[in-house]
Formats: sequence, C-alpha cells, structure tokens
Amino acid sequence: MPESDGPVTVRTLAAMKKRGERITMLTAYDYPTAQLLDRAGIDCLLVGDSLGMVVQGHKTTVPVTLDQIIYHGEMVVRGASRAMVVVDLPFPIGQVSVPHTLQCAARIMKETQCQAVKMEGGHQQSDAIRAMVDAGIPTIAHIGLRPQSVHALGGYRVQKDADGLMRDALAAQGAGAFAVLIECVPAELAQTVTEKLTVPTIGIGAGPGCDGQVLVTNDMLGWNSGYIPKFVRQFADLNSLATDAVTAYRQQVRDGAFPGSKEAF
Ligand code: KIV
Repeated sequence: MPESDGPVTVRTLAAMKKRGERITMLTAYDYPTAQLLDRAGIDCLLVGDSLGMVVQGHKTTVPVTLDQIIYHGEMVVRGASRAMVVVDLPFPIGQVSVPHTLQCAARIMKETQCQAVKMEGGHQQSDAIRAMVDAGIPTIAHIGLRPQSVHALGGYRVQKDADGLMRDALAAQGAGAFAVLIECVPAELAQTVTEKLTVPTIGIGAGPGCDGQVLVTNDMLGWNSGYIPKFVRQFADLNSLATDAVTAYRQQVRDGAFPGSKEAF
C-alpha cells in the first residue's frame, strides 16, 4: 500500500517529499469539518490558533488559550480517521520556558490524542523543539510571518529576511522538527528553503515551491466575512449560500410555509 493511503504519519509526509508528491493541510476546529476534510483526503488537519479570529471573532490569535485549543483539538481528532491532526501551541507557550512548553505540549497530546503539535518560532525556539521531540512529541515549526508576534512585527507583513528565514528553518530541522510551516514570504525564498531542507515545508502565502500548502478552511470556503489575505483562493462562497438558505427559512416561517405537513407529526 502506498504510504499516502494509510493513516498519515510523519513517515508518510517524509515519503511524500521524497516522491515530490504535494502535501495538503487545512485548518479544522470542530467535528463535522474534520470529518469532511478527512473524507476529502486532506493529509493534515491543523487545529490552528486562527480559530481565535475566524471562530471566536478576535482581531488576532493572541487571546486563544491552552484549554480552548484542547477543547477544539479533541473534537477534530474524533472526526479524523486518516488525516494527521496537528494542534497549535497558543501564545505565549513557546516563548516562556522549555519546561513550560514541554508541559503544555504534553497536555495537548494527552488530552486531544492528536498526532503532532505546531509551534511558532525557529532558532530561538530550537531548545523547546528539541525537548518536545526528545519527549516523543512530533513538532512542526512555524516560521516566516508568525501571527502570534503580530504586534512585535508591526502588522501582518510579508517577511523578506532571507538569512533569518534560512537560519530558522535549519535550526528547526536540526532540533528535530519533522516539518516546517512557512508563512507569508516571497515565493523564491520559500523555494530555496524547501530545496535546502530534507524535511517537508508547508507554505501559506509562500508560493508554489513548498512541499505542501495550508489554508484557513473558513477563508478558502468563503465562510468568513472578515479580512481575506491576498494569498487565499476562495474555492466556494458559503457565506452567500448560507445567507440565501437562512433568508428562505425566515421567509417561509413568516409566510407559514414552514413547517409543512411533511415536516409535522
Ligand atoms: O493558526 C493557523 O491556522 C495557522 C495557519 C495560518 C497556518 O497557523
């Protein structure tokens, strides 16, 4: 059986990079979405702290708590049978201390039963990545634009520091990260990093040269009326579909057309 047909593991993703087969990742925050993405064959479901913006209505990902991400992670894990579930370490877990990061990551693994965690950071977080990997916690490093540092970065901007990106990528790989997520960097830069690394890269706003791609599901399905970044392609317009359905429901209730005899006992 090709490795990509079974449950997706760290070995599956490594083999996909070797074969030049692109990896697919989307965010999921609940059980029905996880089921849908899993059945559609998406390789990795990311319980991203983007849920702070697209589910909770915050302006940034910063307010998301460990308890909240665990709550959403549990639901996603129940909905996935093939896909690997990756849960984000919310702010400021990766930045406090190595023991704290390790404790929180272990809690995520134990309570959600996900297969991996993701943490924002590269060379500055390499001790934390190494500690998690040594403890048997598969870890993805998130480099380039790190949304948890939006205030320090002065906004959601394209990250163009080529040396810094390469240093972060190599440090993360050296510390044992099994993949590196690259956000919002020039396409050429992401491709150079991808060619240099032996572990897979997964890009968002990082061009086609990465080993895989990730998007926020609510953005790509048109199920988000907030700001949509330039790098998003909308594959559906669920906002319009749902608005039409809810408007029809409202009208039919008001007209007395719903419920009809078929919907009554
Ligand atoms: O939190 C998230 O959904 C993410 C993606 C933007 C990659 O980190």
